[in-house]
Amino acid sequence: MKENKGQKTYFIKTYGCQMNEHDSEKISWILENMNYIETQNIEEADFIIYNTCLVRENAEVKVYGNLGSLKQLKRQKADLMIAVCGCMMQREEARNVILSKHRHVDIIFGTHNIHKLPQLINNHLQTGETIVDIFEDGREIIENINSNRKYSYKAFVNIMYGCNNFCTYCIVPYTRGRENSRDPENIIKEIEELAKNGCKEVTLLGQNVNSYGKTLKTDYSFTDLLKDINKIDGIERIRFMTSHPKDLSDELINCYATLDKLCGHLHLPVQSGSNKVLKEMNRNYTKEDYLKIINNLKKLVPNISITTDIIIGFPGETEEDFNDTLELVKEVRFDSAFTFLYSIREGTKAAKMENQIDDKVKHSRFQRLTDTLNEIALELNQKLVGKTLEVLVEEVSKNNTEVLTGRSRNNKLVHFKGNEDLIGSIVSVKIENVKTFTLEGSLV
Ligand code: 5AD
Ligand code: SF4
Repeated sequence: MKENKGQKTYFIKTYGCQMNEHDSEKISWILENMNYIETQNIEEADFIIYNTCLVRENAEVKVYGNLGSLKQLKRQKADLMIAVCGCMMQREEARNVILSKHRHVDIIFGTHNIHKLPQLINNHLQTGETIVDIFEDGREIIENINSNRKYSYKAFVNIMYGCNNFCTYCIVPYTRGRENSRDPENIIKEIEELAKNGCKEVTLLGQNVNSYGKTLKTDYSFTDLLKDINKIDGIERIRFMTSHPKDLSDELINCYATLDKLCGHLHLPVQSGSNKVLKEMNRNYTKEDYLKIINNLKKLVPNISITTDIIIGFPGETEEDFNDTLELVKEVRFDSAFTFLYSIREGTKAAKMENQIDDKVKHSRFQRLTDTLNEIALELNQKLVGKTLEVLVEEVSKNNTEVLTGRSRNNKLVHFKGNEDLIGSIVSVKIENVKTFTLEGSLV
């Protein structure tokens, strides 16, 4: 925590994905350049920012709930400033809810105009009015925003923005706009700078990173980018999120064998194991295509970790479709998965589909899926007992100050005893005990 020399303080709450997390790091950088200082205590903040998500209904409901409870704070502190930004604000309906029911909000901005924040703050301070500023699309990539990154040894780096896929359940293409790749020179420059400042691990971010390059004027692909990043001195680990199975090339699979810095982990959302549901979702691959990718990967890199996203209760999902998902889970043997109950998003194709699934049925399937996933995750972790893993030390454990936590190359969370001086370094840990979601071991 930095020392406060009478500066104004800000509190930022981020909902949703890594893309939002990284946007918040940019907002934080902008504010610190305006001489604001971060506080973790919302009640003492002079400026509160909610960076929102609307990928599922519960994320949206939480934002409205939390905004409601700020009314009281605003009454007590007349000069408290409140801003709401992020994906929700790209939707006119959500902006209208804020403007009519949450009139204590001072500034509304979106996902494409974060760079305008200083101007929006000034406009509000000068006029006292609610400022609403939204760019409907993100065709122009703004390069001169830096990030106030939480960790010095690992960093998120945007490589592309937006999505062209229009999966029928998903609101993201409507909020983040069309696919747009950053120029490779800018990405490389950013990562070289990070490496100079001690960063060891980069996670390349985009809604669909393996279609990176399609909007560039030159012929340069995601694998070209990986190869160039692999050459940067100081960077020891490369990760990326998220990939789409329909764009996952053999060339990318080969990178796992040829690029020493590429970590042995792939997050590849499958969403469903039923070909009928995948078609209705507009995913453009079959269960067989997905399994082929996984088998090719496992042949080349036997210890690779595979994680995924699965949606339960998409409209029309029958018991048979659900069983196809369970079967796929058993065949792939995912290391872990994010599982979601299907949530209706107004404006998407699936919202208009008939035969929406009853909540009780969704919950029962969700539970059966979770049980299967957890059983497999534990079995896979048990195979790691006795093995020595390379771990990037991230922080002191929240529950026990003698214990450090870090991530192995295949993205497992590892706990072990050690001195906090080790934070930011890469160490070897011998695994002794495992749970479903974590490994425990000792430094070697
Ligand atoms: N309902 C439930 N889950 C969804 N996701 C995206 N949209 C929805 C929705 N309407 C999930 C997908 C995606 C992840 C980021 O969120 O699984 O991969
Ligand atoms: Fe949404 Fe599909 Fe694009 Fe992912 S690929 S952001 S699920 S539309």
